Amino acid sequence: MTFERNILCIGAGYVGGPTMAMIAYKCPQYRVMVVDVNPERIAQWNSDQLPIYEPGLEQIVRSARGKNLFFSTEIEQGIREAEIIFVSVNTPTKTYGAGAGMAADLQYWEKTATQIRKHARTHKIIVEKSTLPVKTAQAMQRILSAGNEGVKFDVLSNPEFLAEGTAIKDLEDPDRVLIGSEETPGGQRAREMLTAVYANWVPRERIVASNIWSSELSKLVANAFLAQRISSINSISALCEKADADVEEVARAVGMDSRVGNKFLNASVGFGGSCFKKDILNLVYICRFYQLHEVADYWEGVVKINEYQKERFILNMLSTMFNTLAGKRVCILGFAFKANTGDTRESPAILVAQRLIEEKAELVISDPQALRNARSDLKGVDENIAYVEDPYEAAEGCNAIAVLTEWDQYAQLDYARIFKSMRKPAFIFDGRNILDHSKLFDMGFNVFPIGKPAYTHFDADNL
Ligand code: UDX
Ligand code: ADP
Repeated sequence: MTFERNILCIGAGYVGGPTMAMIAYKCPQYRVMVVDVNPERIAQWNSDQLPIYEPGLEQIVRSARGKNLFFSTEIEQGIREAEIIFVSVNTPTKTYGAGAGMAADLQYWEKTATQIRKHARTHKIIVEKSTLPVKTAQAMQRILSAGNEGVKFDVLSNPEFLAEGTAIKDLEDPDRVLIGSEETPGGQRAREMLTAVYANWVPRERIVASNIWSSELSKLVANAFLAQRISSINSISALCEKADADVEEVARAVGMDSRVGNKFLNASVGFGGSCFKKDILNLVYICRFYQLHEVADYWEGVVKINEYQKERFILNMLSTMFNTLAGKRVCILGFAFKANTGDTRESPAILVAQRLIEEKAELVISDPQALRNARSDLKGVDENIAYVEDPYEAAEGCNAIAVLTEWDQYAQLDYARIFKSMRKPAFIFDGRNILDHSKLFDMGFNVFPIGKPAYTHFDADNL
């Protein structure tokens, strides 16, 4: 079978895998190849056990794989054959040298650019999918045009806005698709070609064009704004706990102003995920680079409040459990950074677990999808950690439960049964405000929500 276009994606991760699966699923006329340096990851994509959990993903991979969707480690061949190359390799925060802890580590990205230059023999459109610092497209263009005379490249910025857990829905029905290009004839032609790919299923009015720098910056700013909302409400949750106000009531009242809107105002133990912290620190680094220190400080505050929120949660557990956790058993319900994913990158649960272990508590960690990642995150400190998928079994004999991920099933559990099986006094720390707190209190639990007064039996006789 001949295909209308050959599309390649370098990097088969949380972004590359689902995005390419959706393009292949929606566009049977294109051949979509996804390559990765990690053979294990590629083998998983070719198996029944996909490397990432994402509702709806398995179904679309199954229906396109082997027909027009392929996963392979043959990067060089992929580069030679493709007309459009998406680059979605990881760009973690640098851990060394200049900008350590702040700037994006571009080593994987640069290696990819060099590889493309080396193996390309015909014109290619390069699409930046990874979140990158502003002006990376320019650097990409420079690397690509160094020494490979005769082969022309057009670089586009097409940041991915999907959120994990809803990736398939977000890809199928995106709020917008942003394509940044140079205003040269070549840049415009490349933009048209990529627009035509998305127009197979996305209404044209939602495919937005911009210059390449605006596109790169928009991705960082979108994530910074989202994270800022969470830090804003989390900062208010601290005040609510002191002022006997209820953060959910405040969020509802504030969010009903249509200029503010009601989404992303759920107070929590803190935001996690691979993007928010990394992208904000990247934004901060860029601002500092341009000597915009006030702007940098403003955005850095969003990350600082998030750290504060996690610490506050841990200290609250410690102080309410009589300032000692040594030998106490704590059940952590939920290790993923949010519901409906097995991803644990930057999950607040990691810090909570580490701190509780430092306090010499015993931990039982439960999660429907993230136990494999939890084990690897806690490697080396897990002497006193058990991993138990069944939440009833996990809570048995524990002094406390900490709900750290808002999995639906955790709201539906039979807490009366759980209460009976726990040591007394029994504590529950609801880091996601998903439980019925007064009902739990009536059952006998001491309940600690986020941003609401605690419900405790400490003054009563029944402890
Ligand atoms: C985010 C952006 O939403 C997405 O557009 C971008 O492409 C990648 O980064 P993601 O990290 O997958 O997506 O998840 P998101 O739903 O944004 O949640 C991030 C974190 O914030 C999670 O830990 C979540 O639990 C937390 N959160 C979210 C809150 O604590 N309160 C809220 O109201 C919303
Ligand atoms: P994201 O969340 O941005 O998708 P991931 O870490 O999930 O990030 O995925 C990035 C993928 O890119 C990983 O599977 C990694 O092995 C792959 N990768 C990194 N460098 C290269 C490279 N030079 N060539 C091919 N794949 C690469």
